[in-house]
Amino acid sequence: MKKVTIKSAQEIEKMRVAGKLASEVLDYITPFVKPGITTEELDTLCHTYMVDIQKTTPAPLNYAPSGHKPYPKSICTSVNNQICHGIPNARQLKNGDIVNIDVTVISDGYHGDTSRMFYIGEPSIQARRLCEVTYEAMWRGIEVVKPGNHLGDIGHVIQKLAESVGYSVVREFCGHGIGKKFHEDPQVLHYGKPGTGLELKSGMIFTIEPMINAGKAAIRHLPDGWTVTTKDSSLSAQWEHTVLVTDDGYEVLTISSGAPSKPVYRF
Ligand code: MF3
Ligand code: CO
Ligand code: CO
Repeated sequence: MKKVTIKSAQEIEKMRVAGKLASEVLDYITPFVKPGITTEELDTLCHTYMVDIQKTTPAPLNYAPSGHKPYPKSICTSVNNQICHGIPNARQLKNGDIVNIDVTVISDGYHGDTSRMFYIGEPSIQARRLCEVTYEAMWRGIEVVKPGNHLGDIGHVIQKLAESVGYSVVREFCGHGIGKKFHEDPQVLHYGKPGTGLELKSGMIFTIEPMINAGKAAIRHLPDGWTVTTKDSSLSAQWEHTVLVTDDGYEVLTISSGAPSKPVYRF
């Protein structure tokens, strides 16, 4: 049973605040994301910024959806072949690594969820290309958001771009409705067929967060109960925005002064 909520004007305003705050955590952490820092140190810095400066709550900390043990940290850090939900630890980031940092804050009861890719020092040409294609894929998905279009339209443009350059789309994880709850209906698949799936209506809010692998789509779960990697050890990238369906299109809620701008389409 799908129960996709339409947010009221008051809720939308709170989601704008939460989205901007989530993006500002990524702005804050950016200068620290350098060779030698550990993902645990990044977690501590973000945690302190959220709790002490923003007065927000890090939604991942102790998050325990059914079938999972409580998530032990305040952000997710997914390095190289890690697709998503990487748990910050004592691993030192080194030159050439790529890392996704995924931040979800709770502000005044509402969630803002966003992630970006970071290069540690100088990435390989292949790693840079994967991150750029994934960023463009997310934006192509965002740009088809408007009332009357369907969720399948979003998935289709993302899948089409990823596969046209020989990459694959992760199937097991998807974007999601978001609001008072971290993960709400609908599920926003990053693959699909035009004109299929839920019809978009003004006031819906959901994330678009494609995970794209340089190799095959298959995944593996690490024994820590959370971290997901590629099965073939290929690199994986992800970007995420929280998006509102407006009367005539979309509004990206997870924007702040440091958020990268919409790309010029190149792929
Ligand atoms: N932020 C992730 C998302 O985009 C979810 C992380 S759940 C956690 O949906 F428990 F791993 F933090
Ligand atoms: Co999300
Ligand atoms: Co997220």
